[in-house]
Amino acid sequence: MGGAKRIAILTSGGDAPGMNAAVRAATMVGRALGCEMFGIERGYKGMLEGAITPLTAADVMGILREGGTILGSARCKEFHQREVRDRARAQLAAHGIDGLVVIGGNGSLTGALKLCDPEETGGTPMFVAGVPASIDNDLAHTGLSIGVDTAMNTIVEACDKIADTATAHDRTFIVEVMGRDCGYLAMTSAIAVGADLALFPEQGKSEDAIVAQIVDTVLAVRARSKKAKRVIIIKAEGVAIPIDRLKAQVDARLREKHPDADPSNIETRVTVLGHVVRGGRPSAFDRLIGSRLANVAVRAVVAGERPVMAAWMPPAPPPATIGKQAAADPYCWLVDLKAVLEETENLLTGRSALARWRAGAFEQVEDAQRS
Ligand code: F6P
Repeated sequence: MGGAKRIAILTSGGDAPGMNAAVRAATMVGRALGCEMFGIERGYKGMLEGAITPLTAADVMGILREGGTILGSARCKEFHQREVRDRARAQLAAHGIDGLVVIGGNGSLTGALKLCDPEETGGTPMFVAGVPASIDNDLAHTGLSIGVDTAMNTIVEACDKIADTATAHDRTFIVEVMGRDCGYLAMTSAIAVGADLALFPEQGKSEDAIVAQIVDTVLAVRARSKKAKRVIIIKAEGVAIPIDRLKAQVDARLREKHPDADPSNIETRVTVLGHVVRGGRPSAFDRLIGSRLANVAVRAVVAGERPVMAAWMPPAPPPATIGKQAAADPYCWLVDLKAVLEETENLLTGRSALARWRAGAFEQVEDAQRS
């Protein structure tokens, strides 16, 4: 069956470094395959407004190294409504678009799947492929999403700097990092930084347990004979205790234990990295997987595959592949988009084997560090 000929690309949800690499590759590969390529501005919001314009090679020249996304991005809650999606489909039809490459995370790919749902399209073909892009790494059936590597490097760089000043003053820092409901960034960056403790939602710990764990960690480090007594704790934003409250409780407990200590020395300091983690030039690796995933995604749309997501080395054996590795790239797989979204739900609610493996593997690293 023939696939799409006029393909639109959009970036949606939280931007991720490397999205531009994906936009560039999808445009270049689609054009090389003889398709007309279009860009949709500001994700589904722009789709609803008909902000759909041709993408030429010149438009994507030089964007590979830029952070953010040249197409712009947005969150579009109203896309959950059927009537809103009908308006979006009408815009696509008016522009003659029959294929979509959606670069984004969980919500964006959910919108993509709904958009091509045969129950809604009334038989008009719409070929859709997702490209996983979210610093949170909370999409299932892909080893990595675009943006994760850069975000991890940003966190590591920030924590290395914090460690310098923490060491100079023998201080405790709690560093909060993005990741929405997923602890991946907190866990992996904690390993890369050599943090003393990582807090992430998959642990499912109570507030009291978390406070106690931080206090125990601080006391254990301070009891060491080594000169440096700095403590670095990485907290995922998905751990639902507001960071100010956490600081207040930890400080109160530490003051109880050390009534004579200099407060400027014993009190914790807090750094919330926030959106800094999402910005910056994409790492070489994010440029690479952005390009490679977009390459196989656009080829899937042109080949007329059913709704898929291009995946980067999914955990073996790839459970939701549509039967083959993407012929164009031995490290990329085409996975069924519906299966991705179902398993992503399991990942976020801690029911997936992968979520349990991640948390378990991290606990092992922590145990080894403590021994
Ligand atoms: O999903 C990416 C992400 O950066 C999350 O880590 C974070 O919770 C969220 O987006 C922030 O969203 P916004 O920029 O809309 O506040």
